[in-house]
Amino acid sequence: MATFDVLVLGGDGIGPEVVASSQRVLEVVANKWKHNFRYSTDLVGGSAIDAYGTPLRAETIATAKKANAILFGAVGGPKWDNATVRPEAAILGIRKALGLYANLRPVKVFPGMEESSPLKNDRVRGADLVIIRELTGGLYYGKPKKRWTTKEGRKGVDTMLYTEKEVERIMRVGFELARSRRKKLTSVDKANVLESSRMWREVATELGKEYPDVELEHQLVDSCAMLLITQPTRYDVMVMENTFGDILSDEGAVLSASLGMLPSASLAGLPGLDSKGKARKIRGLYEPSHGTAPDIVGTGKANPIGTILSAAFMLQYSFGLTEEANAINAAVDAVISAGHRTADIAERGGEFSTTDHMTDLIIEQIAN
Ligand code: IPM
Ligand code: MN
Repeated sequence: MATFDVLVLGGDGIGPEVVASSQRVLEVVANKWKHNFRYSTDLVGGSAIDAYGTPLRAETIATAKKANAILFGAVGGPKWDNATVRPEAAILGIRKALGLYANLRPVKVFPGMEESSPLKNDRVRGADLVIIRELTGGLYYGKPKKRWTTKEGRKGVDTMLYTEKEVERIMRVGFELARSRRKKLTSVDKANVLESSRMWREVATELGKEYPDVELEHQLVDSCAMLLITQPTRYDVMVMENTFGDILSDEGAVLSASLGMLPSASLAGLPGLDSKGKARKIRGLYEPSHGTAPDIVGTGKANPIGTILSAAFMLQYSFGLTEEANAINAAVDAVISAGHRTADIAERGGEFSTTDHMTDLIIEQIAN
């Protein structure tokens, strides 16, 4: 029986609730396919500030480095808005400490859920794309990064810095993923203004020669923001700088009915098959795209699907368990097709399945 070590970091707000749902799903997978998922848990974010005075302890990073994967909920909340070190520092710190440079954020409009999208149904129907956000460089981490006071007043600086190596490795993730899908890669930049973007575009074009079967296009981030919501079906895989990805992935999430449905994977290496044709096992952190939603904590209104699909990503990318991952994805598709809805995607004032009930429905599908 294979054993996999998972560090569970539920975080704040609804984070622990949705992570608990995904662990229930994983238990069913463990029983059916005879795996052993061994969990350790820790506090991060606001709850760690309350307990230890810091959002991310060194011990937590050490445990994370020993685990095969991290299942993450969400961090933050109004309670800690004025904390000296904010809860968000936890996720930023883990990403950097573990070298999780490739952030995959799929955006999919589930069949039958077009109605729930705030955009025109016929525009979003069939949209199925993946935003790859570079996660450990760019404007988020470049130095100098500081605030200071001068005679003329206050100043602040952030730096959008990339090395050629950083661009190449994230671009490779883009090409490989595109190759496994519809073979179209959109590289997003601001090459008409930014030097880092010009270098980014050069490296993308050069690497593209290794992938003649993938169609590479370059797009400026501003017009891309427009096309993403007006013609979402034109995209397959998109790859971009950290901040651009932060912004466009929130925009992309609007295409689907709810942020609550969307998973994410943050990987420390290149996913895909190794030279022997076996799935590579990569250290990763898996979290839903949504936040802590403090207003619905404990009400049963949290949608567990984004986290359950994130757990499926974990099986696929960190454990190489493709069949098991597919079983989870198929179960979610089946439950949605059957018309079950959590509060965030239910008709206004209509009936909805609670967090636990939705989890039960998904589990039933997998167990069968
Ligand atoms: C995200 C979040 C984080 C980010 C915050 C919480 C630091 O917005 O994962 O997109 O900006 O990366
Ligand atoms: Mn964000």
